[in-house]
Amino acid sequence: MLMTDIIAKKRDGGELSAEEIEFFIRGVTDQSIPDYQTAALLMAIVWRGMNRRETLDLTLAMMNSGDTLDLSSITGVKADKHSTGGVGDKTSLALLPMVAAQGVRMAKMSGRGLGHTGGTLDKLESFPGFSSALTHEQFLSQVERVGFAIAGQTADLDPADKKLYALRDVTGTVQSIPLIVSSIMSKKLAAGADVIVLDVKTGSGAFMKTEADALELAREMVEVGRLAGRKTVACITDMDQPLGNAVGNALEVREALALLKGEYHGELEELCLTLGSCILTGAGAAKDEAEARAKLERGIADGSALEKFAEFIEAQGGDRRAVYDGALLPDAPVKYEAKSEAGGYVQHIDAEGVGLVSMHLGGGRETAESGIDLAVGLVLHKKRGDFVAPGESLATIHARSLESAVSAAELLRRAYTIGSDRPNDVPFVKAIIRAED
Ligand code: URA
Repeated sequence: MLMTDIIAKKRDGGELSAEEIEFFIRGVTDQSIPDYQTAALLMAIVWRGMNRRETLDLTLAMMNSGDTLDLSSITGVKADKHSTGGVGDKTSLALLPMVAAQGVRMAKMSGRGLGHTGGTLDKLESFPGFSSALTHEQFLSQVERVGFAIAGQTADLDPADKKLYALRDVTGTVQSIPLIVSSIMSKKLAAGADVIVLDVKTGSGAFMKTEADALELAREMVEVGRLAGRKTVACITDMDQPLGNAVGNALEVREALALLKGEYHGELEELCLTLGSCILTGAGAAKDEAEARAKLERGIADGSALEKFAEFIEAQGGDRRAVYDGALLPDAPVKYEAKSEAGGYVQHIDAEGVGLVSMHLGGGRETAESGIDLAVGLVLHKKRGDFVAPGESLATIHARSLESAVSAAELLRRAYTIGSDRPNDVPFVKAIIRAED
């Protein structure tokens, strides 16, 4: 088989066979195919697309390019969750203990933040002593014992995706439904869960800017999951502004804890209840959405979800006292109110712009190697649709120095669009996509 033939076939709109796709992924993984040929095929796929059979074969070949996790030693149905990412997305921190408190086990691999979006592992390191470096055995035994674990993704999981994603990033080939589906689903399938719940974000701060694109991506991922034998559900949710109010590592932990303590009510709670209901019903732990929601809400009200989170922090070496005592979490020395110059309704908040403010303060990574400041970030007081008077605070900036706080406030003001008309309310959860049969 020749790579030049495969490239030319896709260039001309042909359908690649399973053998051709496996040949390609094997060559990417063992590096026998040079980057220029890989990039050429990726670009041909961007232009010509792939049908569902090709997308499934690509996903399975990528999944099998490295280790796959066998969760069969763990009792019951195992669930996993994935978000396509966004600013202020601290969902996993609250969702996993909420679900585990209801007896459904969750085994999750997470990543670190890069650029303006934060990573779950960074956020968790706000707890003194917390470690995500679990051996395979530690990971499995913690999921069995505690109900959930969050570990860093091992280098041996889906090595083909690591190579392809790095190349896509620098060749303008990220935006392609089959390439995104195979990248996300190969990792999820390799991680071994029976039930996979996907949070597909849409809006200006999301990867998928339009609802139509988000729907198409969600449908394809759900179908590939089904064809691979996993129960897969996708929720399309709003990312036209940051999720919740807090952006920045320890600040996001505080907001997730507030939700688990029953002190936060807003879109983050709605998201956790929606995703959690999909998991509980998918795992057979609730007969319908109403029962699932009631269970999840009870777990917050009776403190069992919060206690589950404390058990998890302790199991991974962290200080469980910080779950109950916020004074033990990182706290920035400077608090500065970013005041609005304009008056009117908040019409739009540029989520990416807010993420960049957090990065400017030191809360994000510019390169994979850079360090981050866990304490800094911002807490928004005004969200879309709120009225703001001139001089009123848009957000509290948490900074290392007054100088960085002042420049961050200026950047934040630019992320807000304020005008005289109140924008229409938009639904936060836009659709739930289940398998076609
Ligand atoms: N996230 C992934 O893991 N892969 C993509 O291709 C896009 C988003």
